[in-house]
Amino acid sequence: MTTSQPHGGTLINRFDPEADLSLAVREVELDAFALADLELIAIGAYSPLTGFLERGDYESVVERMRLANGQVWSIPVTLPVAEADAAGLKAGDSVRLSHQGTVYGLLEVRDIYRPDKQVEARQVYGTDDINHPGVKKLLERPNVYLGGPITLVRRPDKGVFAAHTFDPAETRKRFAERGWNTVVGFQTRNPVHRAHEYIQKAALEIVDGLLLHPLVGETKADDIPAAVRMESYQVLLRHYYPADRVQLAVFPAAMRYAGPREAIFHALVRKNYGCTHFIVGRDHAGVGNYYGTYDAQRIFLRFTPEELGITPLFFENSFYCRACGSMASSKTCPHGTEHHVALSGTKVREMLSRGEAPPPEFSRPEVAKVLIEGLQALSV
Ligand code: ADX
Repeated sequence: MTTSQPHGGTLINRFDPEADLSLAVREVELDAFALADLELIAIGAYSPLTGFLERGDYESVVERMRLANGQVWSIPVTLPVAEADAAGLKAGDSVRLSHQGTVYGLLEVRDIYRPDKQVEARQVYGTDDINHPGVKKLLERPNVYLGGPITLVRRPDKGVFAAHTFDPAETRKRFAERGWNTVVGFQTRNPVHRAHEYIQKAALEIVDGLLLHPLVGETKADDIPAAVRMESYQVLLRHYYPADRVQLAVFPAAMRYAGPREAIFHALVRKNYGCTHFIVGRDHAGVGNYYGTYDAQRIFLRFTPEELGITPLFFENSFYCRACGSMASSKTCPHGTEHHVALSGTKVREMLSRGEAPPPEFSRPEVAKVLIEGLQALSV
């Protein structure tokens, strides 16, 4: 059985389809971002959180990457609501949480507060630049936060992701059934290219199983849509991975692009899904040039292994080297960059949109084919 314990020791379960909604004083509209967080709290992916952060926890997370009780937590999980939705509410009220006309949950309001978003931006994202997609999103969302415990009463529709939706309790069960003691989690918001495959397989050499856990919640517009990516992961796994060593599952959270802080968050969440190890490569959860290449690795040193409870596996920038005739990194390859096949994400996306496959040293041909077809289908 996986040796990983949920963060805080208990896997939270706040799903109750029978919950009594009749005492709720009003209905509050969630955006897609908050709806995803509501579900992730309820299924225990964000254990030990039982709801949206109240001010004390919020300020503590923003300032020092810990909940008020000292547990490590690096990303504020908040519920921003419109002024009109918050007006007149008081602690002790409960409200229905809805999205586009459907009620998904219940919030026991414990706190109603106005965050200092400039401070949140600088602390969490390391910048208050509005061009940063995470900061932009933060500033666009409403300015009043509601805090308190939640109950999920209805699961959001999974659409094309249904077959790959597994809650933390289910991934843990699957790992146990397969006899995996050690499992490495892999976060991605991109197609799996050769560099990703290389570091996953390097990790697989030392652990029992891989949880390929692509994020499928909100991402920025120029990231490849999750539905297209899902097809590409399946093709890749079919052709190049041993089926009994990999579990593919979706992670329905929104992407924050918070770099180092999000790397900690991603690791803790994968611990809740049952992983014992977590891959952090170059510029994890980064965007543009906001973070240093290895900042998301260095941040792990600020916490003890015991308080993290999941072992990060750090990887150098990886690439195919024509002189080595293999995948490599600066740790294993003595050759100059002129021998290395390296393409930026933007460049690859442009190539794929034009119907051009990146070189096979960069991307498996089967993967490139699925991505090209998927992107073309979207553009017609
Ligand atoms: S992320 O925003 O989800 O982190 P991406 O899907 O590109 O972006 O990365 C997934 C994981 O692979 C991250 O841990 C990232 O650091 C790592 N990674 C991506 N590309 C490389 C590479 N060329 N070399 C080493 N690690 C990489």
